[in-house]
Amino acid sequence: MARILLGVSGGIAAYKAVELVRLATRAGHAVRVVQTPTSRRFVGKATFEGVTGAPVLVHEFEPDPARGAFPGDAAPDRQPISHLGLVARSHAYVIAPASANTLAKLAGGHADNLLTGAALASTVPLVLAPAMNNHMWEHPATRANLETLHRRGATIVEPGRGPLASEGEWGAGRLAEPADILAATEAAMGGSAEFRPRSLDGMRVLVTAGGTREPIDAVRFVGNRSSGRTGVALAAEARRRGAEVTLIAANITLERPEGVRWIDVETAAELERAASAELAAADVVLMAAAVSDFRPAEPARDKLKKDGREGITIELEPTADVLLALSQARHTGQTLVGFAAEHGDGGLRQARGKLERKGLDAVVLNDISRTDIGFESHHNEVTILTAAGERQVSRGEKSVVAAAILDEVETLRAESVELPQ
Ligand code: CTP
Repeated sequence: MARILLGVSGGIAAYKAVELVRLATRAGHAVRVVQTPTSRRFVGKATFEGVTGAPVLVHEFEPDPARGAFPGDAAPDRQPISHLGLVARSHAYVIAPASANTLAKLAGGHADNLLTGAALASTVPLVLAPAMNNHMWEHPATRANLETLHRRGATIVEPGRGPLASEGEWGAGRLAEPADILAATEAAMGGSAEFRPRSLDGMRVLVTAGGTREPIDAVRFVGNRSSGRTGVALAAEARRRGAEVTLIAANITLERPEGVRWIDVETAAELERAASAELAAADVVLMAAAVSDFRPAEPARDKLKKDGREGITIELEPTADVLLALSQARHTGQTLVGFAAEHGDGGLRQARGKLERKGLDAVVLNDISRTDIGFESHHNEVTILTAAGERQVSRGEKSVVAAAILDEVETLRAESVELPQ
C-alpha cells in the first residue's frame, strides 16, 4: 500500500482523475487530493472527498482537518503546514490532469498555489499526466517545459490521440487512461525506496547539532570543535526513515539534508529557547549539540582592544543545562537521547552518571581521547548506554553510526509500547 498525493489541475479531463482515485484505492493505495482553484470549475471538492474518504485542499493557508494524514493513518497532534504535511507523508505525487499552465509553472519552479507549492516541496517521484488542446500540446513552450521536467526526473504519462473536448478537434492531448497513469505511478514508486512504509513514518524527531559560540566581544567567542556532522547525519537518516525532522543547528556550515527543517542558532541560550519551543512537538530528541557549559559573564559590546595590557581575564558563568531542562519538561512517550564526550578510562561510568542524572533513555558516548574519530572526522565509534546495558558501535562513517543510533531509538520505543499500562 502506498500513499499517493494526487494534484488535479484545471481541464475537462479532471473527471477522469475521479476514476484514477477509484482505481488507486481499489488497488489498496491511500489517496489525498489537492486541487487548483480552476479545477473546481470542472469537478468539485465533494466528489474527490467522497472517493478518497479524506479532505481535499485547495489553498495554501487552508487548515487540513486530517493534519496531513492519509486515509488509514492516525492524524498527528500538530497541524502541519498543509502542503508540507502532505508531501512529507506521500510516496508519490501524481498530477492528473496536468494543464499546460500547471506544467509551465512546474518547469519554472513556481509555487503560487497549493498544488505547485507541494510539487516544489516534494522529494518523492513526480508523475505528470498532461491533458490539453492539441495546439497547446504541440506548442514549443509546452514541449520545452515537458523536456525540462523530464530531465529533472519526472515521469510523463503521454496523452493519447483522439477526439478532444472541443467539438471537431482531434489530435494529441487527451489525458492518458487512468489505468495507465496508475501503472506508471506504481512503476515510478517501485524504483524508489520511498514506496515501502518506512520505520519512522509519522514520527517527529528533533535533533540538535554543532557547537555553540558564546561571545567574548563583538568578534570573538568561546566555542568548541564540534562540526555538527554527527547531528546532520542523524537528521538525514531519520528523514530517510520517514520522520518529520527538525534540526537545531549551532554554527553548522555543512550541506543541509533535503527535507529537514533547519533552525540556526549561535549561543547556548538561543539553542535552549529553540529546543524548549520544539520539545512538545517531538517524539524523539537527539541532543548531539556540544553546548558550552560556560559563557563570558559580561561580553563586551565592541571589539576588545589590547590597550597595552599584559593579559586579560574573562569571567565565565554557567549556562543552563538544556538537556536536563528538556528532560524535566518532557511528557510521556518522548524518547530523549544525550551525548557524552569523555576522555578514555572512566568514560563509561561518567556517561552512565549522565544517563541517570539527566533522566535520559540513552546516552551516546564518544571517546575524545581518540584522534581518528570524533570532532572533525567523518568517522566515529560510539557506545550506546541505556538502562538495559551497553552496546558498542564499531568504527564507521558517521552516517552508519547514525543508523545504529536510530536502530537503538527504534528498539527503545518498541520496548516502551510493549510495557503493560
Ligand atoms: N548539554 C546541554 N546543555 C549544556 C551542556 C550539555 O544540553 N549546557 C547536553 C549535550 O548536548 C549532551 C549532554 O548534555 O547531549 C552532555 O552532557 P554534559 O554533562 O553537559 O557533558 P559535558 O559538558 O561533556 O559534561 P562534563 O563537563 O560534566 O563532563
